[in-house]
Amino acid sequence: MTIYNLGSINADHIYNVPHLPRPGETLAANSFVTGLGGKGINQSVAAASAGSKVVHIGAVGVDGAWAIDQIAGYGIDTQYINTVDTATGHAIVNVDPDGENAIVIFSGANNCQHIDQLTNAMRDAVVGDILLLQNETTLQVQAAKTARARGMKVIYSAAPFCVKAVRSVLEDTTLLLMNKVESEQLCAGLETELGDLPVPEVIVTKGSDGADWLNPVTGEAAHAVSFPVTAVDTTAAGDTFAGYLAAGLDQGLSVEDAMILGSAAAAIKVTRKGTAAAIPTRAEVDVFLKQNRI
Ligand code: RIB
Repeated sequence: MTIYNLGSINADHIYNVPHLPRPGETLAANSFVTGLGGKGINQSVAAASAGSKVVHIGAVGVDGAWAIDQIAGYGIDTQYINTVDTATGHAIVNVDPDGENAIVIFSGANNCQHIDQLTNAMRDAVVGDILLLQNETTLQVQAAKTARARGMKVIYSAAPFCVKAVRSVLEDTTLLLMNKVESEQLCAGLETELGDLPVPEVIVTKGSDGADWLNPVTGEAAHAVSFPVTAVDTTAAGDTFAGYLAAGLDQGLSVEDAMILGSAAAAIKVTRKGTAAAIPTRAEVDVFLKQNRI
């Protein structure tokens, strides 16, 4: 099957800082690197690294040819990445010594998606293919509706979190993926309980407490543990979980096993600094799972 991903593509500017900047403070970074990032492309890299066929739908500026080259290098289909007359999106990623981050994004080309390109990209999609979505591009609602009309599964990562954005795609989402804070914000914003969300499947990731899956209709639930590791950089851990989870489901794993695969990949990611380039390969994840049997 195929995973289609309408997702952001950013140039990440990553600063290791002594602490996250405070209001009014000018702070000297200890180190600085740039690299490929964006929640969308991180998820595509994770899903492709996990061994799934991935078509990325997105946009870069004329300054973004390097990004398309790197994306293609992961084996991701780049034919539906448009080059538009706006700067490629970028992110300022500050990471503190505990591995926590604070991120500022400039959307740029990520907000210039084209409906014809989206429709073309998914014209060969079939029942059971997956559409991945996050909240860093335009056309999320149109993409979700197109996917559902074709019988695809729609996995929506509610990040960066915005109640309005989640509400607008909820009726076309088949699996809603959030972290604990996002799930609390969503329930408060919609004045509902997790178990009453109008979506077939919900996964809430809870850091060291693992991840919970819930079917709000039947009440069925499942839990996957997390793997204890020493984190040096939590950036893109959620993206790594999402991409590996989607790939696991795409490859026919049960939701529990797909969550374990995602947790293992995310655990390796947080032991490495960086974003797309720090996402582990499937071989690395398989070795990790063998060494950390549960
Ligand atoms: O989730 C991490 C990502 O968030 C970074 O790669 C950055 O580009 C922002 O989109």
